[in-house]
Amino acid sequence: MLSVDLYRGEDALRRDRERVLRRTWQFMGHDSQTPATGDYLADVIGGAPVVVVRKADGEIAAFHNVCRHRAGALVADGAGNCGEAFTCRYHGWRYALDGRLRNAIDFGASEGFDPRNYGLFPVRLEAWRGLLFVNLDLEASPLANLIAPLAARWPDGQAAFPLTERRSHRIACNWKTYVENYLEGYHLPMVHPEFDADVVVAGYRTEVVDRVIFASAPPRDASVYGGLWGWLWPNLGVNVYRHGYMIERMTAVGPTETRLDYFYFFDPARTAELAAMLKVSDLVTAQDLQVCEEVQRNLEAGIYRGGVLSPKHENGVGWFQDRIEGALSSV
Ligand code: FES
Repeated sequence: MLSVDLYRGEDALRRDRERVLRRTWQFMGHDSQTPATGDYLADVIGGAPVVVVRKADGEIAAFHNVCRHRAGALVADGAGNCGEAFTCRYHGWRYALDGRLRNAIDFGASEGFDPRNYGLFPVRLEAWRGLLFVNLDLEASPLANLIAPLAARWPDGQAAFPLTERRSHRIACNWKTYVENYLEGYHLPMVHPEFDADVVVAGYRTEVVDRVIFASAPPRDASVYGGLWGWLWPNLGVNVYRHGYMIERMTAVGPTETRLDYFYFFDPARTAELAAMLKVSDLVTAQDLQVCEEVQRNLEAGIYRGGVLSPKHENGVGWFQDRIEGALSSV
C-alpha cells in the first residue's frame, strides 16, 4: 500500500506532477476539435499550461502556453482560433503556429536581439484514431507503445464516431484515490448495485497488460455496457460500446481535487442509446464521487495507516500503486 501521505498535501501533488503526470501521455482532445488553421485547444497538463494548434500545413503542433518574454499566456484555456499566429496576451509578441517568434514589438537586431533564440517551448504530440495526446517529456517513448494492448483489442471495423457529448465533474479527492476506485470492481455490489442488471458483477475481472488495465464482466442480454473497458497509465479511461466509445480523463487539479472530463464519441443516429448511457454515467459518477470523497476525508483524518488489497479483485490497484511507487522513486 502507498503511504497515506501520498494522497494529501501540495508536496505529494508536486511530486506526482514531476514524476508521473509530466512524463506520461496525457489526453488533450480529438483531432476534429481543431479543423481549421489556428484552431487550438489549451489546457493544464501536470500543472503546466499547454496548447495544441492546427498549423497552416494541416498538421497539429503542441507547445507550452508560455510566452518567452515574461511568461505571459498565448491563449486562454479552452478552445478557440488564434488566426495565423499566436499573439501573447501580455505585451503582444507574435509567434508563428510552428512556434517561431515572428515579431517582438520594439526589440531589434540593434539591441543584439535574435528572435531565433525565443521560439516557443515544444511539447510532444502524437495521435491515435484522432485522439490527441501530449507529453511534456520530450524523451518519452512513443504513444504507440502505450496504446498497443488497447489497439490490439479495439473492435475491428468500428466507425470513426464524432465527438457527440462532453461532461465534466469536480470531485474532492486526490486523483489517485479516484483512479484506484476506477481500477477495481470489488465495490460494484455495494456502490453500483444496478450494474448487475446489465452485466454479471460476480464475474467482474481486471487484467493488467503492460501499462493498460482491462476490466470485463459477462454481459447480460441487451447490455448497454457490453464492450471493451480499458484504462491507460496513468489517468485515462477508454470504454468502447456497441454504438460508440467514451474517454474519461482524470485530471489532478489540486492535492485533493480532481476533475473528470468525459468525451463521448457516439453514433449520431443512436440518440436514445446515448441518452440512456449518459443517465447511467451521471448516476455512477455521483455514486463514485460520494465514496471517493469519504475515503479522502478518512485518509486525511490521520487514523488510517494502510490496509490490504484483495488479490482476486484489486490486482489493478496493486499494479497502479507499485507503478506510482516506482515512478516517485525514479530520478
Ligand atoms: Fe508575452 Fe510580454 S509576456 S509579450
